[in-house]
Amino acid sequence: MNKKTVKDIDLKGKKVFVRCDFNVPMDKEQNITDNTRIVAAIPTIKYLLEQNCKIILASHLGRPKGEVKPEFSLKPVAKELSKILGKEVIMASDVIGQDAKVKAENLQEGQIMLLENVRFHKEETDNESEFAKQLASMAEVFVNDAFGTAHRAHASTTGIADYLPGVAGFLIEKELKVLGNAINNPERPFMAILGGAKVSDKIGVIDSLLEKVNTLMIGGGMAYTFFKAQGYNVGNSICEIDKVDLAIKAMEKAKERGVKLLLPIDTKIGKEFKPDTESKTVGWTEIPDEWEGFDIGQKTIEMFAEELRNAKTVIWNGPLGLFEFDQFAIGTNEIAKVLAELDATTIIGGGDSGAAVEKAGLSDKMTHISTGGGASLEFLEGKKLPGIECLLDS
Ligand code: 3PG
Repeated sequence: MNKKTVKDIDLKGKKVFVRCDFNVPMDKEQNITDNTRIVAAIPTIKYLLEQNCKIILASHLGRPKGEVKPEFSLKPVAKELSKILGKEVIMASDVIGQDAKVKAENLQEGQIMLLENVRFHKEETDNESEFAKQLASMAEVFVNDAFGTAHRAHASTTGIADYLPGVAGFLIEKELKVLGNAINNPERPFMAILGGAKVSDKIGVIDSLLEKVNTLMIGGGMAYTFFKAQGYNVGNSICEIDKVDLAIKAMEKAKERGVKLLLPIDTKIGKEFKPDTESKTVGWTEIPDEWEGFDIGQKTIEMFAEELRNAKTVIWNGPLGLFEFDQFAIGTNEIAKVLAELDATTIIGGGDSGAAVEKAGLSDKMTHISTGGGASLEFLEGKKLPGIECLLDS
């Protein structure tokens, strides 16, 4: 990584503003249902404690669109952090208001405080410079450890670096190392599995992965646009008619570059979009009208599994079916199990595929599960991430 990290500057006793991604899922009672992103921030926080820093943590939660909404409060995160660290995390009741400012001012070495949700101000997502300056005024150094938000040019991820020296935390360092090595220096055969609903969301990453991988496997809702591109009926399946040309181009590019492109050969279809809908498995050219494809079929699972058994590096982004409904989670779960058994580097893009692997109880069998959904996708596409670009060069 060509950016400075917390290890490259003297932080002893300093007041640091640490941007984390504590955008964690919660149930209706605001219980955190998956604390992975909080746990992932701990190594940097512990290091800063060892340096006797005065630590100001900041994050967004959800998309409250500039309004103060109690259901988007970070209070449950402060509680969870206190529990994990075994020490008090002081909660500020605002972001740049009186409470935050006074608490930041009085912070002692080795103390930690968490600001309220930075997205309670619309100036955050607007990357408004006065707001960034106010955030910066509370600290002496900016540490960005919010890999999951590194693709957003917001005040607390990017703008703040105009007013404070910015360095990366250990999570960002680790994510860039693992994802960067896989993309730039993979042990081969290098394979990618892409799922998710839309070709339009993934076309950038399809295009860039076709220049790197030996095999690309496509599943999920995206596959039906590829079926359509070959002239087949997709019934009521999700399909982006205006992206059919992109699917054709991707198939041509795979051929030109000698990349093995594996599309599903069968699909599990349902009558309606509900968990207990009537379902059956058909060949990919046989989807009847009125039916909708929701998962890859058994033959596809076997075909993908056989290919994957030769892999030395695998990147997986996006579920292969409608995994929220158990009867259509089979493809995703089976492929997760195959990956868990491989003697290979296995990297799971965050977001839904990370959640699927978590749900299958296989997280600790993977080499790396990224804490970034959109961010890891943009990184794999070869895009520059503004939350990293703004940091000091090493
Ligand atoms: C994520 O969950 O992908 C990140 O926290 C970014 O959230 P956002 O898409 O609302 O910017």
